[in-house]
Amino acid sequence: MLARFYSDARGRVAGPGAADYMRGMSETQTAAPLLPILIYPDLVLRKHARPVTPADADEVRRLVPSMFATMYKAPGIGLAANQIGSLLRVIVVDVAPKDEQNPIALINPEIIAQSAETATQEEGCLSIPELYAEVTRPARVKVRYQDLGGVKKEIEADGLLSACLQHEIDHLNGVLFVDYLSALKRNMLLRKLAKAQKR
Ligand code: NI
Repeated sequence: MLARFYSDARGRVAGPGAADYMRGMSETQTAAPLLPILIYPDLVLRKHARPVTPADADEVRRLVPSMFATMYKAPGIGLAANQIGSLLRVIVVDVAPKDEQNPIALINPEIIAQSAETATQEEGCLSIPELYAEVTRPARVKVRYQDLGGVKKEIEADGLLSACLQHEIDHLNGVLFVDYLSALKRNMLLRKLAKAQKR
């Protein structure tokens, strides 16, 4: 996901070991090879990603640092595996303000609770370059996932992190933020994108 404005949103990673897992991430993510980001209307963006199993461990360990490197380079605040052509249920996010880092890699993320209250954020997507639109989603979510060590964790998020997690989990289900817009608004945006791609 892309956000033009950074909010003061903060998420909380529950459970011990969260800080441990984040330590050391920044060294690997800078050296990892960058991956090309698939651009709408690439059909892989519409595919349903499959759950990560223990047999995928090596692939995920190789993938995640490259996903972080690619996301930071873009720059974006979230990236899903579909966007770089992998159909594993893996997302990376970092909504920390500039000059700070709070990388979180989520394996098999699922929303296990969401607020009835909604919030509207302006969203963009690295796969739909330079287009932004306001999207309304549940204001708060609780997401269960596994970390890189396979440890089950939960994260409660509001604000930008909440929107970002929902946006990235949507990607794993082949859903894009433009799907939330009215047909009129969506067609307008996508025509703009098609025009920009011809340039
Ligand atoms: Ni996106």
